[in-house]
Amino acid sequence: ILEVLIKGLHRLEYRGYDSAGVGIDGGNSKDWETNSKSIHLIKQTGKVKALDEEIHRQQDVDLDVEFDVHLGIAHTRWATHGAPSPVNSHPQRSDKNNEFIVIHNGIITNYKDLKKFLESKGYEFESETDTETIAKLVKYMYDNRESDAITFTTLVEQVTQQLEGAFVLVFKSLHYPGEAVGSRRGGPLLIGVRSDHKLSTDHIPILYPGKDKKSCNTLPRMDEDTCLFPVDEKAVEYYFASDASAVIEHTNRVIFLEDDDIAAVRDGRLSIHRIKRTAGDHPARAIQTLQMELQQIMKGNFSSFMQKEIFEQPESVVNTMRGRVNFENNTVILGGLKDHIKEIQRCRRLIMIACGTSYHAGVATRQVLEELTELPVMVELASDFLDRNTPVFRDDVCFFISQSGETADSLLALRYCKERGALTVGITNTVGSSISRETDCGVHINAGPEIGVASTKAYTSQFVALIMFALLMCDDRISVQPRRREIIQGLKVLPDLIKEVLSLDEEIQKLAAELYKQKSVLIMGRGYHYATCLEGALKIKEITYMHSEGILAGELKHGPLALVDKLMPVIMIIMRDHTYNKCQNALQQVVARQGRPIVICDKEDNETIKNSSRTIKVPHFFCYAILSVIPLQMLSFHLAVLRGYDVSLLRSRFHHFLTS
Ligand code: UD1
Ligand code: F6R
Repeated sequence: ILEVLIKGLHRLEYRGYDSAGVGIDGGNSKDWETNSKSIHLIKQTGKVKALDEEIHRQQDVDLDVEFDVHLGIAHTRWATHGAPSPVNSHPQRSDKNNEFIVIHNGIITNYKDLKKFLESKGYEFESETDTETIAKLVKYMYDNRESDAITFTTLVEQVTQQLEGAFVLVFKSLHYPGEAVGSRRGGPLLIGVRSDHKLSTDHIPILYPGKDKKSCNTLPRMDEDTCLFPVDEKAVEYYFASDASAVIEHTNRVIFLEDDDIAAVRDGRLSIHRIKRTAGDHPARAIQTLQMELQQIMKGNFSSFMQKEIFEQPESVVNTMRGRVNFENNTVILGGLKDHIKEIQRCRRLIMIACGTSYHAGVATRQVLEELTELPVMVELASDFLDRNTPVFRDDVCFFISQSGETADSLLALRYCKERGALTVGITNTVGSSISRETDCGVHINAGPEIGVASTKAYTSQFVALIMFALLMCDDRISVQPRRREIIQGLKVLPDLIKEVLSLDEEIQKLAAELYKQKSVLIMGRGYHYATCLEGALKIKEITYMHSEGILAGELKHGPLALVDKLMPVIMIIMRDHTYNKCQNALQQVVARQGRPIVICDKEDNETIKNSSRTIKVPHFFCYAILSVIPLQMLSFHLAVLRGYDVSLLRSRFHHFLTS
């Protein structure tokens, strides 16, 4: 079983992680009853290989014993709550005896309240994770059970009803040997089934609690009306997984669970439960046969991680806002800044310091920050900031924006500002990274691991995080309340608007086919869109090896216009905001030099659409710049593929050290 689990984790490595762990039955006897009296947890920071080595170092695990019944759970973790370490890795446990253990993908947003409650009941916590509250909560439910007949499924039902946020969970317990219970809300969970024998059904009925309680665990009768099992009671294996790539080498028969399904395996039988019956619910979950090859599954429908991450943006921006933005009462809470916000509000200026794409996130949000904080805002490239020995004062607040949290120049600039007594704030994607640890406070953007070579989803999440900060800075200024509401309601629809932009992919691929043989692309815009021009040009340079330049449209007549002629590819960003008329002027100047620009514009801007030979139409939004960058991410990706470059390169976590 360890081999199966470790192999499964290897298959998931492509998703990115910083630590790993397994939980298995403890004993070394062939007798299942004896083995299931203890649970063995083995956890390690770093690669799955390191975990495997740690397993082989264990004195009390005999790898040669064969078990008749065995359930183990394993997990790779990307830190969001607490730094990568064995104690923060999953499985998390209920207590020192490992009575209940659990693995979790997602974020529990009310974990602090649950933790406070459990601590008041005497439960002691050992990790910094949100997940540990789930393990403790299930034990609390068990310790306070009304009847000894309570099933594992019912306990998990009681637990999931208390959880807010997003989760995919699998539980194992000493009190329920050989049983596994899994549930999901807002993340994927599937169950693979492998048996050489005929199965009782190919549609597993959903069981609901009620008077005529048809539950697999309480019914004396276990038939195809309630569960899945091999008919002649022969061997069967079930695999709970967040991703088909972990199970496909064992079986291609899988069941995809829906939100709030609870799936339980007991005595070799699988049942699926739901707490509430809702109109439109499907009465059963079908077993599907996956036709995909492993390689195909690993990248999903995407040909590279960069493309996968571009398409993840509707979810990654939600994860950045999860538990932080309340769309009902228009409030924003950033747990990482709450103790410092008063001090930040009193500062003399804000300085944002970063490299590459993260620098562009600073350029993109500067205007919103200036508007909502009414403070002077400087945006600095870390290397230049250091070269200039820039004066920094005690009443400055310095932001360090970094996906990895390890970029050498950003880190050096952080230490430079700290020495000068400024308050330092991190905007990072990597919990436990140097920038996250060394800053006085900050915001983790929670975009999930970014492993594609070019930064995409981290940019949009940094953008959202900085807007949330700007909103927080002005939450008690009455005059800006209408604007704050407009922005917060805008953030609410952002994921849907990103989806709409992503649906332009095919159109953009065609555009790439027209452009890919060119030597150069100019990208022009102004106001909020200047950052998009810089970021689009950086993406094109970085992965397509084409020359590209982001040009501030206000600077056109001061030189760059000379580059424009009928052959030069030009992309212009023209949106219906305060720079609209000026952008129309720039368009006229380009057209006057026989340029035939491709215009990224508002889909309702009939005037621009009528006057341009080619447009990419994005929906109306209070902050177009988050949307307008996405077509350029997609364009750079398709250009690179057409030009024959390998976009599937992975970002080495430390390449920044080497290149800086
Ligand atoms: C915490 C959880 C988060 C969860 C949220 C909701 C952690 C690490 N995060 O987030 O996953 O969604 O509760 O309950 O437990 N910090 C820095 N520098 C940085 C980034 C962060 O010093 O660059 C500090 C913060 O000041 C804070 C801590 O790290 O003290 C955690 O930051 P963050 O994850 O953003 O805090 P919450 O939003 O409270
Ligand atoms: C561009 C890119 C780089 C990084 C830069 C900073 O696609 O990935 O420009 O943005 O190296 O890295 P972080 O954000 O990790 O500090």
